[in-house]
Amino acid sequence: MEQGFRLFPVQASAFAEKLDHLYWFLIVVSGFFSALIIFLLIIFAVKYRRRPGRVAERTRQSLGLELIWTVIPLMLVMVMFVWGADLFLDESTPPQGAEEIFVVGKQWMWKAQHSNGRREINELHIPVGRAVKVTLASQDVIHSFYIPAFRVKQDAVPGQSRTMWFEPTKPGEYHLFCAEYCGTDHSKMIGRVVVMEDTGYQAWLGGETGETPVQAGEKLFTQFDCASCHASGRRQRCPNLTDLYGTKIALANGGTVLFDEAYIREKLMSPNAKIPAGYQANIMPTFRGQLTEEQILALIAYIKSLSPNQAVPKRSNP
Ligand code: CUA
Repeated sequence: MEQGFRLFPVQASAFAEKLDHLYWFLIVVSGFFSALIIFLLIIFAVKYRRRPGRVAERTRQSLGLELIWTVIPLMLVMVMFVWGADLFLDESTPPQGAEEIFVVGKQWMWKAQHSNGRREINELHIPVGRAVKVTLASQDVIHSFYIPAFRVKQDAVPGQSRTMWFEPTKPGEYHLFCAEYCGTDHSKMIGRVVVMEDTGYQAWLGGETGETPVQAGEKLFTQFDCASCHASGRRQRCPNLTDLYGTKIALANGGTVLFDEAYIREKLMSPNAKIPAGYQANIMPTFRGQLTEEQILALIAYIKSLSPNQAVPKRSNP
């Protein structure tokens, strides 16, 4: 793991280099204008200082000058906006077929589970050169999952499922931090990310497997008898969940919603919010307080597995 002082963390993800380019652009532009302004400030302070017998002259408008100092900064900030927005959209849209990992933050540790069921704490083993999608939740307060070498950070918020993704480019060990003050031992809520060659990763992954999140979710789905309403047939009173993930569904009040991790969680917690068109409210019970974060993630994983052709929600804006 990197030691000592560095101005920038190592670049260990495909995104890191792109983000650093933008960051350098911001530094250079800000630095240039700071220097220019300080330089002119000093020149003018000396040149126009108060002297005996000198009276201020009346200044006239200069349209050309005003256009220059409006248009040039406008163009520069538009470049920053478009460039930044493009990177932001890239960073918030996981590609198809990404390796899925579930992470739950709690005071004061990170609990991770891989899609084959293998669990780890305060460590994250991932393969190099493959996209990894992390679905984040919190069991208590707000934490923030931060890997500086990948230039990614995402909050883990109680009651929400958030996702982040990255593609590690260099095998090695990197810092993992909690970047949101979350109580006494916040500073100890640290860990390491181990990026491995694919063969090593497969060996590590295969070493020990328990129940996969999808299997755990399927069990819960049966245990709570969800299928009695969600299965097609005479008794169906709720949407059939097959092939829904990643699609837009129409709502009873006229809008639409993307059927993603966040919506599945919302339906588990507040089933009467955002009722799909053609269905009634007050049928599904709330599971608020009855499910742990891991169980919610397992149910999400299972419901996602019912849509094998739709691995990832489509980005809604171009
Ligand atoms: Cu968790 Cu700070």
